[in-house]
Amino acid sequence: MHLLALETSCDETAAAVITETGESTRPWRVGSSVVASQMAIHREWGGVVPELASRQHVRDICGVTEKALADAGQTMADIGAVAVTQGPGLVGSLLVGVSFAKALAWSCGLPVVPVHHLAGHIESLTLAHGELPMPAAVLVVSGGHTSLYLVPAPGAYRLIGRTRDDAAGEAYDKVAKLLGLGYPGGPAIDRLARQGHDRAIRFPSTRLTHADRNEPRSTSGELLPPEIARRVDFSFSGLKTAVLRHVRNAQADGAALPDARVADIAASFQRVVVEALLDRTFEAAQWLGARSIGIAGGVSANSRLRADAEERGGRFGLPVFVPPLWLSTDNAAMIGAAGLRRFRAGHIGAWDFNAEASLPL
Ligand code: KG4
Ligand code: ZN
Repeated sequence: MHLLALETSCDETAAAVITETGESTRPWRVGSSVVASQMAIHREWGGVVPELASRQHVRDICGVTEKALADAGQTMADIGAVAVTQGPGLVGSLLVGVSFAKALAWSCGLPVVPVHHLAGHIESLTLAHGELPMPAAVLVVSGGHTSLYLVPAPGAYRLIGRTRDDAAGEAYDKVAKLLGLGYPGGPAIDRLARQGHDRAIRFPSTRLTHADRNEPRSTSGELLPPEIARRVDFSFSGLKTAVLRHVRNAQADGAALPDARVADIAASFQRVVVEALLDRTFEAAQWLGARSIGIAGGVSANSRLRADAEERGGRFGLPVFVPPLWLSTDNAAMIGAAGLRRFRAGHIGAWDFNAEASLPL
């Protein structure tokens, strides 16, 4: 079967055609994947402007869908189901995709499958590498999320850690903004950090070791002892504030920082983020007896995170899987993979399902 997938949760309008292979270890193949990025629009504003994002999705979605079908050499007559991101994300953006997917599916007499955006990121790993050795510890790290899941079996996702404040990608974007590196910040810091000294500045790393009033209700209670469950949560707002203070002090005379200094800040910030991500992922993986590690989402494009994860995986004797770059940032191919998984598990959306800004997985 061929499935058409749509993704409009943030600032990328994306459509893809995904085909079932009939092989259990490598269940899907990408027929096409088209992404219309709105980066140039939002860059002027230093971040995503929700209203502009929604309007641009409306402009782009027909063309992107037509191109995805054409690239796959197909028409709607070849498609067996439509999948769409239901949430989480910007609700105005999500509504464009959800409404379009429902109208298209209904007019073609097809079922529509609502998909969780993070299930899409997790399934980008299966799409690229086939089924991971299970149980797998999967870190989803993007502009909106930093969440750690245990995947005990294909299609089962159990949340074991999450950020208490900023997502890692959000921290990259905010730090890049205050360093004057523009939007999106992740790729800019990644590039610049290569020229810096990663121990030039000792930024603090936050470890949550005590109960506090912001503690979320545990979803992993049975999986991890409470003191470990707490340790695998993330926090990046303290780091962001530390970078802000450092920059303010260094710029006390109001002059711009020399390039070498900015590179040192970028490298030192990045080292703390990458260590925080990998420390928790590998700690949880060991506790849970995981047989593999997956890292997905926009920040998984980061070159230091990829290199360090690979190195650590070697040390721990755990294979590490990351998606190719075109599958790490937002795209519809991953939504198609998760959509086919759900469709085969018998999940079809009722015609009145809605876009959800926040949605648990
Ligand atoms: O998954 P994604 O495309 O969108 C969300 O679902 O949020 O992730 C976007 C995030 C942005 O914060 C961006 O700065 C970050 O991924 N990102 C990176 C890199 N490429 C993208 N962060 C660090 N290093 C990169 N190379
Ligand atoms: Zn995403």
